[in-house]
Amino acid sequence: MTKLNDSITLPNGAVISNRIAKSAMSENLSTKNHEPSQTLINAYAKWAKSGAGLLVTGNVMIDQKALGEPWNVVVEDRQHLEKLKAWAASVKDTNTHLWVQINHPGRQAMDQINSVLKAPSAIPLKSKGRKKATTKIPEALTEEEIQDIIKRFGITAAVLKEAGFTGVQIHGAHGYLVSQFLSPYANVREDQWGGNLENRARFVVEVYREMRKQVGPDFPIGIKLNSADFQKGGFSEEESMQVIQILSKEGIDLIEISGGTYEAPAMMKGNRKSTREREAYFIEYIEKARKITDTPLMLTGGFRTVSVMQDAVASNELDIIGLGRPFTLFPNIGNEIINESRSDFKAKMNTTGVKGIDGLMNIIWYEAQIKRLGLGKNPSLKLSAWSVFFTYFFGIMKFKFTKK
Ligand SMILES: Cc1cc2nc3c(=O)[nH]c(=O)nc-3n(C[C@H](O)[C@H](O)[C@H](O)COP(=O)(O)O)c2cc1C
Repeated sequence: MTKLNDSITLPNGAVISNRIAKSAMSENLSTKNHEPSQTLINAYAKWAKSGAGLLVTGNVMIDQKALGEPWNVVVEDRQHLEKLKAWAASVKDTNTHLWVQINHPGRQAMDQINSVLKAPSAIPLKSKGRKKATTKIPEALTEEEIQDIIKRFGITAAVLKEAGFTGVQIHGAHGYLVSQFLSPYANVREDQWGGNLENRARFVVEVYREMRKQVGPDFPIGIKLNSADFQKGGFSEEESMQVIQILSKEGIDLIEISGGTYEAPAMMKGNRKSTREREAYFIEYIEKARKITDTPLMLTGGFRTVSVMQDAVASNELDIIGLGRPFTLFPNIGNEIINESRSDFKAKMNTTGVKGIDGLMNIIWYEAQIKRLGLGKNPSLKLSAWSVFFTYFFGIMKFKFTKK
């Protein structure tokens, strides 16, 4: 029976020392030049001692003209190599893998910080239940731009390998560019990149192949993939299963499952009542996925109780437990899970009580906790939601001002 502290060997031979992973969480902690700040590096030095076998960084962008958040780290070339080396070295002398999540936001990005939005098709984002677009209309990518983005994913992966990170992850979930290509709702192209699933999956396959070409056969490449978008006309569970089969055949090393987009954010709360009662949001999906692939599977979203995590790995339906928000509030979480010194990691965030703002809190309140970690402070359950909101808002203003 598999236990949480058993190691796992990935298809390329890399060994992850146990079954607890920190899932990617955007830290929004770069410098104004988009290199890793010391606060960001310090947060990882803290998590390096958390007892997790794998830490995946928050999304790092491949192009400074396409940002998810104002203070994202961007890796376009070797110019930030020294700081990237320092970030990679934050796990030195530990048994912890540090992988970087690589992303392009496509149409799911703030108008305030990007002069143009590029996407598979010129279809703007809409929030759930709203009829009106919530971003400006993106420009459909040209063939040349698509080829450029594929190349960039490869260059970013090669630089990160050179910096000393021990793996990379493609962000193929949550409605960003890779997931936009997969979605028949966001991608209505009529060329080789749109239409049937084979065409819509071409982008992620080409991104993977280019990265593999750049980093070689022994370097771990994983993907975070949606079980479904949970949107009418979006990427479905059946299609997601087919993408798992395609990428497994390509030789990907680890598939992390999540779900939803920022139009329908299932990654933060699950989708069905029955799933929520069982804690892990996408567990029914992973049970099915296990039957169609031998590639190691990681599941993220909702895990809070040690007994549920233990049962999940013991069942062999998944290999690695991914945790997001609990890592921000319990920085020693891996050790506490494995020693069983704490049985649950529930923690309720503070909210403003204003519905439109509190959706954002689900990200920015936890980002503020990551910043506290990096500044050497303890997590604060009492952290005021309003102060977090105003700090974030002023951060966007500062970004706009400094970029002018
Ligand atoms: C502050 C914050 C930032 C996030 N940023 C990312 C990200 O950059 N990439 C990603 O794949 N998921 C991101 N997520 C989603 C988490 O990885 C995870 O899927 C989600 O929080 C559900 O897991 P949990 O219930 O354990 O928190 C983020 C979540 C939070 C709270």
